[in-house]
Amino acid sequence: MPDRAFIEPRLAELYDPLDPDRGDLDVYAALVDKFGARSVLDIGCGTGTFACLLAGRGIAVTGVDPAAASLDLARGKPGADRVRWVLGQAGDLPPLQVDLATMTGNVAQVFLTDEEWTATLLAARAALRPGGRLVFETRDPAARGWREWTRERSDEHTVVPGVGGVRTWVELTGVGDDLVSFRWTYVFDADGAVLTSDSTLRFRTRAEVTASLVAAGYVVDEVRGAPDRPGREMVFVARRGA
Ligand SMILES: C[S@@+](CC[C@H](N)C(=O)[O-])C[C@H]1O[C@@H](n2cnc3c(N)ncnc32)[C@H](O)[C@@H]1O
Repeated sequence: MPDRAFIEPRLAELYDPLDPDRGDLDVYAALVDKFGARSVLDIGCGTGTFACLLAGRGIAVTGVDPAAASLDLARGKPGADRVRWVLGQAGDLPPLQVDLATMTGNVAQVFLTDEEWTATLLAARAALRPGGRLVFETRDPAARGWREWTRERSDEHTVVPGVGGVRTWVELTGVGDDLVSFRWTYVFDADGAVLTSDSTLRFRTRAEVTASLVAAGYVVDEVRGAPDRPGREMVFVARRGA
C-alpha cells in the first residue's frame, strides 16, 4: 500500500506543486537518448511527469503505479493520452518488451523487504527486451541524508494554485539499521485541516543493490552519482542479461 501522500487525493495533488523542480529527471532523459530507447516502462510513475515528458518526444511509454489518486493526476497532463497507464505494481503489467525501464524519484526505496524488491526487479526484467536497460536511483546510506529531515529544516509555507496556502514539514519517526521512517504533516489554510502521511524507506548500500541486480539476472554497467545531488544518490544502470 503506497503512502497516504500518494493515495489521498488532497495530498496527491500537492506532489507536483510542492516539488516543481524536476531537474532530477534530466539524468534519465539523457539515458533515454544515449540508449536510443523508443519504448520505456516507468515503474512507480506517480503523477506521470516523466512518462508525459517522454510521450511528448514520441516515445512509447507505459507508466505503472498502485496509487490511483496519483495516476488520476497523471492522466490529466498534456501528452497523457499517449501513455499506457497501469494501476498496480510491476508484477501486474501486461507482457512488454521495452528498451528501457526506469524508477525515478527514489521509488526503489519503497520496497522494504528483499522479497518485494526482488519481485520488482524480476518483473522489470520480464518487461525488458534482451539487452534492455533498467535505470534507477537510490539514496546512498553513507550520506545519512535523513539527518536533515527535521521540522526546522523542512518547514515551508507554499501557496498552491486552486488549493491556497499549505504549511508542510517532515519529522523522523524512526531510524533502524537500513529502514528510515518519517512523517509529513500538511496544514491547509483554507479549512485548517491537518493531514499526515507516514513513510518508511529502505536504504540499501551499493554492494547490496549490485548483488540484488546480479541475482535477478542483470549486468550492472554503471553506478553514477546524480548530478543534481552529488554524493547523496546512486544511479544504477543495469542491463538485462542473457
Ligand atoms: C516519491 S514517489 C515518485 C513518483 C515518480 N516516480 C516521480 O519521480 O515523481 C514514489 C512512488 O512510488 C509509488 N509506489 C509505492 N509502492 C509501489 C509499488 N509497490 N510499486 C510501484 N510503485 C509504488 C508511489 O505510489 C509513488 O507514486
